[in-house]
Amino acid sequence: MTGGALQLLAGKRAIVTGGANPRGIGAAVVELFLAQGANVAVLDHAYPEGAEVQPVRGRVDLHCDVSRAASCEAALARAKEVLGGIDVLVNNAGIVAATRIWDLPEDEFRRMIDVNLTGTYNVTHAALPALLESTRHPAIVNLGSTAALRGGGLLGGSHYAASKGGVISFTKALARELGPRGIRANCVAPGIIETDMTREKFGENWEQELKQGIPLQRFGSPAEVAQAILFLASDLSSYSTGIVVDVNGGFHIH
Ligand SMILES: NC(=O)c1ccc[n+]([C@@H]2O[C@H](COP(=O)([O-])OP(=O)(O)OC[C@H]3O[C@@H](n4cnc5c(N)ncnc54)[C@H](O)[C@@H]3O)[C@@H](O)[C@H]2O)c1
Repeated sequence: MTGGALQLLAGKRAIVTGGANPRGIGAAVVELFLAQGANVAVLDHAYPEGAEVQPVRGRVDLHCDVSRAASCEAALARAKEVLGGIDVLVNNAGIVAATRIWDLPEDEFRRMIDVNLTGTYNVTHAALPALLESTRHPAIVNLGSTAALRGGGLLGGSHYAASKGGVISFTKALARELGPRGIRANCVAPGIIETDMTREKFGENWEQELKQGIPLQRFGSPAEVAQAILFLASDLSSYSTGIVVDVNGGFHIH
């Protein structure tokens, strides 16, 4: 999908976390949002601290470790300054690990929750004053996962599934609390998407077997997740809040 005459995010100021990996979902979201007319601040811990990339074609890249509240406050303050406000927030930054419960130490469990769940809270909390000021139909889109709905089991262990289940519950509660204040909050739940999180992780035989079990017979692309995120971020979904949009090729139908 490219920007045509109708730009779904024209005039919107968006934050996308976890957009530094060019092969990831975040980068696909940034590309689509720019094509749809948004100005975008990309927040990622992979960007060097203090070395801000100046806005280019409506984009600025800022260092942010979502697991640290102070880092989020600083990045969001700078993003608001550069963009002139915030209308859309996409909490995409995340980590995954398949460690099974019998091998799972407390520090790894905590780290998963710190990045995926507390990170979503940290960025949302820091962005909230600006989102509340927005008069451009503000929207929050969070990244859940099929792992939260089917009990993990593939590349995500119990800590990953719990963190994403937390994100989905958090999003539903945000929808209830923030709806009366004019902010929508929704989730996408991707299935198996071809990114560094999944590429070459299954081995050839298991990958073929997995694909045969998916009604659409293939893994998804980051661009296909980005399209669902665009729907939830834009006014196309103006009467939807608290929903979870599955992007899984039919892998999990419920
Ligand atoms: N790939 C999949 O199959 C899949 C499936 C379901 C859900 N998801 C979710 O989609 C999101 C993106 O996944 P992806 O596959 O593109 O992953 P990815 O690893 O390609 O990208 C994740 C990005 O998050 C950034 N990041 C990690 N920790 C961070 C931190 N503490 N602070 C700031 N940035 C941080 C990384 O630098 C990276 O740019 C994640 O939330 C993931 O859980 C992915």
